[in-house]
Amino acid sequence: MFEELKEKALREISEAQDIAQLERIRVNYLGRKGILTEQMRSIGKLPPQERPRVGQLLNELKQIVEQALEERKKLLEIEEEKKNLQKLWVDVTLPGAIKKIGHLHPISRVLEEIETIFVSMGFKVVEGPEIEDAWHNFDALNTPEWHPARDMHDSFYLVDKLLRTHTSPVQIRTMLSEKPPIAIVSPGRVYRRDYDATHLPMFTQVEGLYVDENVSVAHLKYTLEVFVKRMFGPERRIRLKPSYFPFTEPSFEVDVSCGICNGEGCPSCKYTGWLEILGAGMVHPNVFRNVGYDPEKYTGFAFGMGVERIAMLKYRIKDIRDFVRNDERFLECF
Ligand code: DAH
Repeated sequence: MFEELKEKALREISEAQDIAQLERIRVNYLGRKGILTEQMRSIGKLPPQERPRVGQLLNELKQIVEQALEERKKLLEIEEEKKNLQKLWVDVTLPGAIKKIGHLHPISRVLEEIETIFVSMGFKVVEGPEIEDAWHNFDALNTPEWHPARDMHDSFYLVDKLLRTHTSPVQIRTMLSEKPPIAIVSPGRVYRRDYDATHLPMFTQVEGLYVDENVSVAHLKYTLEVFVKRMFGPERRIRLKPSYFPFTEPSFEVDVSCGICNGEGCPSCKYTGWLEILGAGMVHPNVFRNVGYDPEKYTGFAFGMGVERIAMLKYRIKDIRDFVRNDERFLECF
């Protein structure tokens, strides 16, 4: 009778598929109301001479079942651990997740290039505030309140300040805090009430200023020629056209020869052979007076260029708004 019970118990134990099932089997045999426990309890009902033998057999059976449970449990535990490990297992030979690495915005790249060229010629890079006052932005630059040139610089006004409309006020700030010789370029954001395919309300300029004794238009022309050839290629030429800015006299519009037709004339340069890239001139004597410099002693040249425009010409970009659309298909081209 115990033989049968033993075989049944051992079979059930060996077939248990997990620890929970095994636990149910244990309770079924050895729990408080388990089969073996009940048997032990009923020994008392046997005739006294049989009790020791049955008791011994039951004890042996109990030990066998306990041991079988213990061994099966160990085995199941190992198997469960294996399964868990399999879930955690990493195939180190799989290709890694490719992370997209960003890069500098095309405007930042062009800006760095411009700075590098001027620094190599001895210019220092300085910055000025984007929130300016009208004196630095206009008056000191020989552009009084009534001046028509202010109309073209429609800006964003704060209570008693404005977002600078150009980087030229940095000329004033530098001349007020330093003595000649001065050779600086000043990059930065500027603001105007404009928005179309060639104008953004916020764009980037680089200002240049060189002040010393005996500075002439020849210095200006040479400096810009070096810049243009380094920026666009040694085959490119420049030309100066008369222009007007309140803070320079004489003033020039500087053109670069068209890179597509090499100055022959094509749709890209509207058949002129030339593309306008920046404004420049000799610092106006009034500007020197406004910063306390003697215009009889010092002369200087200044220039200002739009970085987006330079980038558009260099990379043949049609719409300036592409720079601020944040479209990866555009940005990835650089
Ligand atoms: N500030 C001018 C503008 O934003 C550009 C400019 C022209 C700057 C001539 C200069 C200059 O320094 O000499 O339109």
